Amino acid sequence: MKYLKNAWYAAAWADELSQRPLARMICETPIVLFHDTERRPVALFDACPHRFAPLSLGRVQGDRIACGYHGLEFGRDGRCIKNPHGNGATPAALSVRSFPVVERCGMVWIWMGRSEMADSKHLPEHLKAFDQPGFVWSHGNLNVAAPYEMVVDNLLDLSHVEYLHPFLGSAGNSKGRTMRVEHDGNLLICRTEATDTPVTPLFRLMREGDESVDDENGDLRGETHWLAPANIYLDTTTTRVGAPLNTAISVPTYHLLTPATADSTHYFWAAGWNRLTDRDDVAQMLRTGIVNAFENEDEPMIRACRSRMHSNDLLENRPALLPIDEASVLARRILGRLIDVESKENAVLPDLG
Ligand code: FES
Ligand SMILES: [Fe+2]
Repeated sequence: MKYLKNAWYAAAWADELSQRPLARMICETPIVLFHDTERRPVALFDACPHRFAPLSLGRVQGDRIACGYHGLEFGRDGRCIKNPHGNGATPAALSVRSFPVVERCGMVWIWMGRSEMADSKHLPEHLKAFDQPGFVWSHGNLNVAAPYEMVVDNLLDLSHVEYLHPFLGSAGNSKGRTMRVEHDGNLLICRTEATDTPVTPLFRLMREGDESVDDENGDLRGETHWLAPANIYLDTTTTRVGAPLNTAISVPTYHLLTPATADSTHYFWAAGWNRLTDRDDVAQMLRTGIVNAFENEDEPMIRACRSRMHSNDLLENRPALLPIDEASVLARRILGRLIDVESKENAVLPDLG
């Protein structure tokens, strides 16, 4: 399967890394991740060049990792720096590939393509939302047993929320909802708006204690940014019916999707909120509700859909498309084009990665 290689992928939350090796499959490539002694992330190909033992079965020792089979040691750049056998030679052939990694907003990002093209200025712009004042955040990750494009489809379609997620949506939210989709290069923005619609249980929780907003209905808005290949920022807001946006309760979320294999996805999520931010019980309820939605509602549904498809390419299965699919179909086309362009470039240039 072809992936967009020259792009930043979410590899791990920084708090998953330590001086113990973490094994993670990314774009069908086994990777070992760890923190060096200065807490800088390191990512190496997870197979020793000697007899291919996964380095993740070895030990991190300061800034190096030692193979658990015969003890070769590798530095953060993948060069072998200690060979305990024979004359101790460490020729270049004993290197493993190292991958550019950068830590930003608590996430470790990995570049799977040509190292010389890795530039942190191409990290998703919308990560800035993490720094908005007045918000608290919760984050986590799960695995989805389905292609990452199907998880993107799910996130670019907010109409499923009222049917699949009793905590995140309310019956009737899709009625009269408008949707506007625009794109520029590898960024797609989808804006939805439903006015005078039942407020969702999640936003009811966020409204608690504010007697000025105890109405049954409100205006719900969603703004989704998809950045190829699969990094999504979704801001959902609610206001009283007809009230200005600057009065909104806002729940911004990140959905950073990284293909593990053609049929499995690492799903890193984060959710923030700007009301009741000092309430531990609210934080706990929000987290429980969100984790439940992703792990027990989205994941099983996406996996079940995949089980009824004869290939992992949705469009090859000739789906009956609805207007709600506009953004997801466009995202698939943009991604397909980017992968085609990259493949053609790779056909004429040597792989320097
Ligand atoms: S397999 Fe790693 S040192 Fe032998
Ligand atoms: Fe969902």
